[in-house]
Amino acid sequence: MKRNEQLPIPGVQLPHAAPITILAIESSCDDTAAAICRDGKILSNLVANQAVHEKYGGVVPELASRAHLQNIIPVVNEALLAANCELKSIDAFAFTQAPGLIGSLLVGAQVAKSFALVFDKPLIPVHHMQAHVLANLIPENKPSFPFLCHTVSGGHTQIVLCESPSLMKVIGQTLDDAAGEAFDKSAKLLGLPYPGGPLIDKYAKAGDAQKFKFPEPKIKGLDFSFSGLKTAILYFLQDEINKNENFVAENLHDICASIQARIVSILLNKLKKAAAETGITEICIAGGVSANSGLRESFQLLGEQLNWKTFIPPFEYCTDNAAMIAITGYYKYFNKENFAQLSTGVSARAE
Ligand code: KG4
Ligand code: ZN
Repeated sequence: MKRNEQLPIPGVQLPHAAPITILAIESSCDDTAAAICRDGKILSNLVANQAVHEKYGGVVPELASRAHLQNIIPVVNEALLAANCELKSIDAFAFTQAPGLIGSLLVGAQVAKSFALVFDKPLIPVHHMQAHVLANLIPENKPSFPFLCHTVSGGHTQIVLCESPSLMKVIGQTLDDAAGEAFDKSAKLLGLPYPGGPLIDKYAKAGDAQKFKFPEPKIKGLDFSFSGLKTAILYFLQDEINKNENFVAENLHDICASIQARIVSILLNKLKKAAAETGITEICIAGGVSANSGLRESFQLLGEQLNWKTFIPPFEYCTDNAAMIAITGYYKYFNKENFAQLSTGVSARAE
């Protein structure tokens, strides 16, 4: 397939004669998001973050569901307004069905179902991890199939072989913590608030990544493990703080840069291996951790060295957002088998 050509789903007719407008809702964790997409172009993309979790050092599921309930209608309204669109002109309603926190997923699913029922329009359930990958199909400059996508988020770390928008195979994944958890748990050990990933990124910018050495786990194949790194950081900090109680404050930038460099090298070494094993040279990253400036820079550099065509979604499509749900809903729209009944459920699990 040529670059930028419209991407078909096997067995599905494209393009559709009339423009297709999709309203998408994402509420799998602690971000309440809505987006409007017309014929594969994102017209609006709104996210309401939930500050309520910060003081607990992680997402509290019950509080997340309650905050989604408060935020969801205002966010949908804003998305419609920003796209200059009315609910009655929406052709289909997409929502995140799995994986995620059940209470959070239910709020988005129920709103999407209500709209589908009232306006008698199709309901499209979307897999959150498939959507992270397909965020790479939003920009003009898209990868062509087959491509590899390294999806790195707070809940997942996967290398995905993508044959088409609907045909994806996970060829490597984490055996324990996800890359985002490795960032967030390291940040917590440093006394930084949740979610600490973006803060490690911020402090790392002015730090020396060579100053402290953290171990790289020896995991076979294309799988990952981050739990050993967390333990190594914990023991390292305990030792250093025993010698100097101001160690973290005095070395924060260097510690963050060193932790970030190790997480990035773990991720990219496996990606390099996956590219060599599959022979695929169109390579994307996706998910919240793909917003990390160290990863973005090193990924691009590696791509130049190895003659890859590299793709990184714009920041707003890296962390959880509804634009990625909308683009996935758009590709699924053309295969009516993807439409869901109003009795459809949600699932916490990825399978
Ligand atoms: O994809 P995402 O928004 O939600 C999940 O599906 O999990 O990813 C959230 C994760 C969090 O662990 C957060 O700390 C991490 O992405 N993250 C970052 C950065 N921005 C978000 N990690 C490192 N550097 C960043 N700039
Ligand atoms: Zn996500």
